[in-house]
Amino acid sequence: VGAVLKDNHFKTFPHLTPMLSLDNVFNLEELHKWIVSLNIEDPKIIVEDKADGVSLDLIYENGKLVQALTRGDGISGEDVTLNARLINRIPHTLTCDIGVVCVRGEVLVTTKNFNAINESLEDAGNKTYANARNYVSGSLRQKNYMKTKFRKLTFRAYSVDAEEVYSTSDEYDFLEENGFLKLKTVIPSSLLKRTSKVHDFLRLDPAMKEYRDQHEFAIDGLVFKIESHRVRKELGSTSRFPRWAIAYKFPASTGLSKLEDVIWQVGRTGLLTPVAQISPVFVHGVTV
Ligand code: IVH
Repeated sequence: VGAVLKDNHFKTFPHLTPMLSLDNVFNLEELHKWIVSLNIEDPKIIVEDKADGVSLDLIYENGKLVQALTRGDGISGEDVTLNARLINRIPHTLTCDIGVVCVRGEVLVTTKNFNAINESLEDAGNKTYANARNYVSGSLRQKNYMKTKFRKLTFRAYSVDAEEVYSTSDEYDFLEENGFLKLKTVIPSSLLKRTSKVHDFLRLDPAMKEYRDQHEFAIDGLVFKIESHRVRKELGSTSRFPRWAIAYKFPASTGLSKLEDVIWQVGRTGLLTPVAQISPVFVHGVTV
């Protein structure tokens, strides 16, 4: 009881259902194509923040948290249950004890906490973290799980798989009743009944940058998803992505640098590759 893992590896276990990734679109045209490809008149779609954290699968059996798995290769993930129990907003018990429940979400750190952590590391002359995601990933996978407790991590849920949960609104009710925080719904489906409404919303794109920059934690886009679980089942998935959801990715952060030189790199086979030497530039938390 309370033993600390002795080797470097967490045990891996299969996910109850594969933890798929999301297909991406980068502009309105691609988003529109996706909506048309659904071939549904008036599709009911919800839009949520796409949090840039580390995804985590929480399994509850008869109302008790029994396992927390990282994404891993999507089929099996690493068992980080002991660490997950020490993360804010991961309830250990549910208010109901219905069979098996799977709650999925992202482990995050607020930008404010992350910056404060990096500042104190810098003050102490220590190496800082390149970005919040690396910090979260390392903190979640601490061998000595007690250390996870002090890493100021927090969990935001984005999906629930359980009996009698048939739609996003059921998922949201479930999460609220059980003490989870969920990722923010940016546009409710009532505003998105027609694709033209989606277009109206995304015309606000430049404003979305402001939205993103003011956000409590890092978000790298929006997730558009079909509300009804029945319709989701009908649409199904490819081996990598569900067809019922798509990520609208924000443009990558940019920075301005100076081209100092171009050197020729000679490959093993004699292939010559020109490599740009640029002066260091700080982009989205990393020095390139
Ligand atoms: S829904 C794939 N909703 O982004 C199954 N995912 O880059 C449906 N993510 O694998 C996922 N915020 O880990 C969904 N509001 C959100 C999300 C979200 C972040 C993660 C998730 C997904 C990854 C794809």
